[in-house]
Amino acid sequence: MEKIRVGIVGAGLIAQRAHIPSIMKNEGASLVALADSRVGLAESVAKAWHIPKFYGDYHDLISDDALDAIFVLANDPSHYEITKFALESGKHVFVEKPLATNSSDAEELVAEAQKRGLVLSVGYMKRYDDGIRLAKQLMDALGAPVLAESVYLNGNWLGGDPQFPYITSNEKVPLTEYRYPKLNFTDEQKALFAWILGLSHQIDTARFLFGDPKRVVSSALSSNEKKGDLTVNSFTSTLDYGSFLLNLELTSAWKGDFTEYYIACFPSGAVLRTDAPILLLRNTTARVELRRPDKSEVYEHVGFRWSFEVEVNEFFEAVRQHKDTVSSGREGLLDVQLAEKMVAALS
Ligand SMILES: NC(=O)c1ccc[n+]([C@@H]2O[C@H](COP(=O)([O-])OP(=O)(O)OC[C@H]3O[C@@H](n4cnc5c(N)ncnc54)[C@H](O)[C@@H]3O)[C@@H](O)[C@H]2O)c1
Repeated sequence: MEKIRVGIVGAGLIAQRAHIPSIMKNEGASLVALADSRVGLAESVAKAWHIPKFYGDYHDLISDDALDAIFVLANDPSHYEITKFALESGKHVFVEKPLATNSSDAEELVAEAQKRGLVLSVGYMKRYDDGIRLAKQLMDALGAPVLAESVYLNGNWLGGDPQFPYITSNEKVPLTEYRYPKLNFTDEQKALFAWILGLSHQIDTARFLFGDPKRVVSSALSSNEKKGDLTVNSFTSTLDYGSFLLNLELTSAWKGDFTEYYIACFPSGAVLRTDAPILLLRNTTARVELRRPDKSEVYEHVGFRWSFEVEVNEFFEAVRQHKDTVSSGREGLLDVQLAEKMVAALS
């Protein structure tokens, strides 16, 4: 079978540390081109990884008829315009999270992919983590919880990953204007929205495990520490699932290791907890603990696959089979919509 010919837009951290190695490892794909507006970076990364072509303008890369699929790995605000151009050029797209920075843009991308019969997949690699998948299986078997919670402490998420060199550049990262939701957000809400959407793994994993809430009950933000445009200590949002509430708690004011977990308590007395691993550590899947009144089970290292690699493999499989991935554009759209509702509910 012919190899899937791939081009990447955005040659920064996540390209080098996760996606380039994963694409290179896949025998059914061939990484043929790379674009970054920081053309010096594009050149150095292309050389280091023996990628035949590099560009400074993504339009030149995407216009290459020889390419089948584009990985959009540029900064959040440019996902929409690059993905749109790639879909309009007839290419399958893998785009890092979030799909877009407002729900109308996200909706447009989903419709475009559907109209053209193209695969559109969003980089929520936690849906590909064997531990998270086991937690979902166990949760589905336990039925509806009575209470659920998720905590996200955005600490050191690199986890000291030593395995691949990371090439940097002094060239300026291009500024793309942030396309905020067409809602009457205050400046504080806009900053909060961009922040939680940047960390939208929590929203997406909660939706993967628990499904879609009926409504957002309330959101609250406590503001103590300056973080860019936003002064934040903690953010919480309560989601109503009809028969139970899910509380999401999030902070970036945290100096410890990256910590992210989901807990569900069931009427039988069972409590299921899953801890997502530090993102860039390979061979580490989510830890799952199921405590029942009579016995407890702990699952560490549920297989030894790296979620980033599985997600890339399943993307190529979806392209070959003309089907959606588990982190389809539609899921990415629902994440953006929920983020908008959570921020709109800010009291
Ligand atoms: N899945 C995950 O866990 C995860 C982790 C980190 C980052 N990300 C996502 O990956 C994306 C990239 O993050 P990063 O940490 O690699 O950032 P980065 O700044 O290291 O790299 C982004 C690169 O994109 C380039 N770029 C920006 N706009 C461009 C444009 N219009 N055309 C061409 N190149 C452009 C920049 O020059 C930069 O080199 C972000 O959307 C981020 O949210 C996901």
